[in-house]
Amino acid sequence: MSVLIKNGRIVTAADDYVADVFVDGERISLIGASLDVAADKVVDASGRYVLPGCVDPHTHLDMPFGGTVTIDDVESGQTAAAFGGTTCHVDFVIQGKGQSFASALEDWRAKAEGKQVIDMGYHMAVTDLESGGTLEELATLPDQGVTSYKLFMAYKGALMVDDETLFKTMEVAAETGALVMVHAENGDVIDVLVRQALAAGNTEPVYHALTRPPEAEGEATNRAIQLARLAGAPLYVVHVTCKQAVDPIALARDDGWNVWGETCTQYFFKSLDDIALPNFEGAKYVYSPPVRDKANWDVLWNAVRTDALSVISTDHCAFTWQGQKTMGADDFSKIPNGGPGLEDRLHMIHEFGVRGGRISLNRMVELLATNPAKLFGLYPRKGTVAVGSDADLVIFDPERRHTISAATQHSRSDYNLYEGTEVTGAVETVFLRGQTLVEGGELVAKPGVGQFVRRARFGELLSPATAAV
Ligand code: URP
Ligand code: ZN
Ligand code: ZN
Repeated sequence: MSVLIKNGRIVTAADDYVADVFVDGERISLIGASLDVAADKVVDASGRYVLPGCVDPHTHLDMPFGGTVTIDDVESGQTAAAFGGTTCHVDFVIQGKGQSFASALEDWRAKAEGKQVIDMGYHMAVTDLESGGTLEELATLPDQGVTSYKLFMAYKGALMVDDETLFKTMEVAAETGALVMVHAENGDVIDVLVRQALAAGNTEPVYHALTRPPEAEGEATNRAIQLARLAGAPLYVVHVTCKQAVDPIALARDDGWNVWGETCTQYFFKSLDDIALPNFEGAKYVYSPPVRDKANWDVLWNAVRTDALSVISTDHCAFTWQGQKTMGADDFSKIPNGGPGLEDRLHMIHEFGVRGGRISLNRMVELLATNPAKLFGLYPRKGTVAVGSDADLVIFDPERRHTISAATQHSRSDYNLYEGTEVTGAVETVFLRGQTLVEGGELVAKPGVGQFVRRARFGELLSPATAAV
């Protein structure tokens, strides 16, 4: 199958020009002006952007969490991703207590079997080095293309690890070339504050945010940075929300340390006002770290503009409001943490980041596609539009207006964080390795089209010619 995309405005992290793209099979084989080649399918992309498929390095599909399971499985979550212009994501395998890493990976792969709509990789979330996986086993994961280890410094009594586990994992990463990812909040302190709030009868959703203050995020971020430096491991701080965490990351990066940070779409748009909404509406905005005061919106825009933060992900971890979030109707600590977002990232960041004059179009591509691909061993196969790269392409109409709504989304959640937001600019057509995925508002490929991608080790180049699926 060959495709010729004509006259599109090709936008990468570095370039912005009008040209034709010729795809032969799964990869881009030619880019040039007025290409004179025969193709099975010709698409006129005049007046449209041709973007690399976005890469989301932070998602949770089909994940047991908070006494329930996320509402989006691999099929519904990846369908939402495809409609949002994301063609590759990296999901978290969660090691169960007492479980080996091999067995955890097997479980996650089984859940994805036959359901994949886009390409995907896995991070390994380490939860137990006492009775489950060993350090030796952890060291073997990068050979299988699982080249990042995630540790939760919060969720005491569930996913949280102590500093010993954190540091030992960092030492392994320093040896194996894996990237260490941390959810940086001080879980011990949060646990004290949550119990104090409940004892005082404070049960509403807003107390989720009030018991997870920015200082708890700042402290854990600082600790993780110093420990990673000590261990000699590269560090990636997920879902950064506030100045208290941005500042130490910026400082470490200024000093040339191997530290990177990510924020997520929702932290630019939601605040304490949302989680304080009456009639349990605030529960829709219960995720961790929590929404912050609005002053942090500018902190985050500035951080992504200056590269203090290098990635915008979604942390898609969808639940329904009715039925799942309501598990915490009488106790905020029982509200499952997380929200949907896979379908909205590109549209929201294009509207309020690019059209809002906060970041350039190139920078948007870098934050949503190129940097995640580079940091997580997928580049240049993913994350750019170049000869030899996978033909994961998004044709984006920068003029089409639409309104974001749960009524039209593909996630199974019954709400949307950005309900009613009007945006100009829409994903029109999506290709995954040369196959048409989304066209005319429909998913035109069948589940199963997506593949597991073996990722390169941190900093190791993945040659488009040699990368194995
Ligand atoms: O609330 C969130 N973010 N849920 C997903 C798990 C995590 O902490 O990333
Ligand atoms: Zn987290
Ligand atoms: Zn997450």
